[in-house]
Amino acid sequence: MASSSLHPPSPARPGLLLGVGVGPGDPQLLTLQALSALREADRVVAPTTAPDSEGRAESVVRQALPDLAVDRIPFSMTSDDTPEGAAARADSHQGAADRLVGWLDAGETVAFVTLGDPNVYSTFPSVAATLLDRRPGTRVETLPGICAFQALASATGTVLLDGTETLALVTALDGTAPVKEALSDPSRAVVVYKGGRHLPEIAALLADQDRLEGAVVGELLGLPGQTLRPVAEAAGEPASYLATVIVPPAPRRLQP
Ligand SMILES: C[S@@+](CC[C@H](N)C(=O)[O-])C[C@H]1O[C@@H](n2cnc3c(N)ncnc32)[C@H](O)[C@@H]1O
Repeated sequence: MASSSLHPPSPARPGLLLGVGVGPGDPQLLTLQALSALREADRVVAPTTAPDSEGRAESVVRQALPDLAVDRIPFSMTSDDTPEGAAARADSHQGAADRLVGWLDAGETVAFVTLGDPNVYSTFPSVAATLLDRRPGTRVETLPGICAFQALASATGTVLLDGTETLALVTALDGTAPVKEALSDPSRAVVVYKGGRHLPEIAALLADQDRLEGAVVGELLGLPGQTLRPVAEAAGEPASYLATVIVPPAPRRLQP
């Protein structure tokens, strides 16, 4: 496993913090590497909104390894961009670091599970950065997980990229401007994360730019309540936070 290039591992200290991607929801999409790491870790920890509630990543792990002990670390999952929201997130990262420091000082390998991949829009890098401020020299590594958009492409039979096509992976948490910008090149595939709330606006943008054909949205992929729909049929109302949109490149329509 390669050490994170952002965080040089020297001087070495006891303990290892391992960010483990568990895929979008279906436990069958856990990699063999992730399963081995979870079995071998001294401790498995999972983010949660409250100590008595099982987070999504923990539920994936529990289905695959029902007897595994999982420690919950409460996190503020607010997407609020006000100073208060940012302070709540920073506080929860400090709280997580407090607990991780104790375990790492005891020399443990701590596996921190995260939905999808730990290096794609995940809580893990900020937790690791907070920890490294407090405990420089900590070994931090990651194991890849299957991303939600990959699962959506497979589940809907969507070819995401072919030949020399390019991909824009954007978020629409605060509005659709990044989607509009990404759509400016019709030969580019666009994946939208965190855009459930703005799904009607995204659909309108796609209709405007003649990009609705082939565009799909997946909600709660691999989780109870999963839905897979053409964006054209889902445009009427907002979707949940766990929704992903794929817009394939436009020129493919012209190919035989
Ligand atoms: C904080 S990001 C996590 C991304 C994740 N690390 C990955 O690699 O796919 C959250 C966004 O990922 C997407 N997502 C993650 N899991 C999903 C799922 N099970 N179903 C649909 N979308 C999902 C949604 O767009 C959601 O708003």
